Amino acid sequence: MTQLSVIGCGYLGAVHAACMADLGHEVVGVDVDPDKVAQLAAGKAPFHEPGFDDLLQRAIASGRLRFTTDIAEVHGSQVHFICVGTPQQAGRNAADLTYVHAAVEALLPHLAVHADGPVVVVGKSTVPVGTAAEIAARIDADAPGSGASLVWNPEFLREGFAIQDTVAPDRIVYGLGPGDRGQAARVVLDTVYASQLERHTPLITTDYATAELVKVAANSFLATKISFINAMAELCEATGADVTQLAEAIGHDERIGPKFLRAGVGFGGGCLPKDIRAFMARAGELGVDQALTFLREVDAINLRRRTHVVELARTACGGDLSGARVTVLGAAFKPHSDDVRDSPALEVASTIAGAGAHVTITDPAALENVRRVRPDLNLAADPLEAADRADVVVLLTEWEEYVTLDPEQLGTVVAHRQVIDGRNALDPVRWRAAGWTYTGLGRP
Ligand code: UDX
Repeated sequence: MTQLSVIGCGYLGAVHAACMADLGHEVVGVDVDPDKVAQLAAGKAPFHEPGFDDLLQRAIASGRLRFTTDIAEVHGSQVHFICVGTPQQAGRNAADLTYVHAAVEALLPHLAVHADGPVVVVGKSTVPVGTAAEIAARIDADAPGSGASLVWNPEFLREGFAIQDTVAPDRIVYGLGPGDRGQAARVVLDTVYASQLERHTPLITTDYATAELVKVAANSFLATKISFINAMAELCEATGADVTQLAEAIGHDERIGPKFLRAGVGFGGGCLPKDIRAFMARAGELGVDQALTFLREVDAINLRRRTHVVELARTACGGDLSGARVTVLGAAFKPHSDDVRDSPALEVASTIAGAGAHVTITDPAALENVRRVRPDLNLAADPLEAADRADVVVLLTEWEEYVTLDPEQLGTVVAHRQVIDGRNALDPVRWRAAGWTYTGLGRP
């Protein structure tokens, strides 16, 4: 058992804190937001994540997990995880590091020698390369008595699979400082991740810069894979070919693989879009912007898919969206999540509404968040209510309950049986058999 603090209890931090406590460590989670802390302390997740409420309650009941707004309570912890967000700066591509620097600033006065061994600060936030070295230097300069050292330990958790990805990750990366201190920190972190390492999880130890780059490289690769297949969808649209068959066929090549080749309205969320943009911005600062020029294209292809879906909806409504009734199925950036940050579904819905349509949006988990950020949109509790007298139904988040909808039943409430499948998730044969005009993305 190791005493841990987790600074920043958003998606990453809250899940990390609860999983670590469940694995037997003693954990204090710190966040500046009193509402979030109160909710977590009451055993209620501030976001939708399958299985998380149960895990949280179990960890709190064990007596090994508590939450606080008081940073002084990190006192007594040997390992401090920095899990705060690094959003995109307003109006710029670069990442906003305000929260990371504030977390380090707040932590420094509380770093003290620990009876059980070396004190370790562990960075998990996604940061521009070079940030870890800066933080390590600050620790040495401002908390020299603590002997604390820094490890950069990126996380790769997917929303919707956050617990699984924390408890049984694909790999663990330690970016270590030089010399004996780096090695001593590694030994401490090995005890924190003992259960993951016992499962023979691959462990890669690197320097700081490599560890920071691993994270953004992984997300850039995933984004590129999605935009690649979406670019193929554009070709398919121009030629009458079918991108779903194309993806299946190339995915059988083991060197390519079938995952992340689902063409549709593209990627969104709190990570991929902002991470590729921050990566380009950092490459520019480093004078190697040419190396990442392709990511500009990846971003552009991705955003073009959103515009394309709006145009398909316009065409379905006779070339003019004003006054049309449009139903949008899904608001979250992907299923099993209530996250609407940079959600393609929400952006398409908003653009269609902006063109004068009467848009009704439904989602099994994200409606509360939609209400917060887009109070002007009409919300409906379920697809049947949402599709009332619709001229066109647009599926944008492939929740299971939408994929398995009965087209016959939905057809009884709409004005026109027209569906745009923004995720290529519906069965065109079934929908067409029920009298619907079906339009997929990159499908004839
Ligand atoms: C991502 C990374 O996967 C994760 O490793 C990292 O730590 C954080 O960012 P997440 O944002 O939870 O995780 O979502 P992910 O499952 O990667 O999906 C991202 C987006 O891509 C979603 O909008 C999804 O709908 C879209 N997507 C995914 C596609 O459009 N096509 C695909 O084939 C796969």
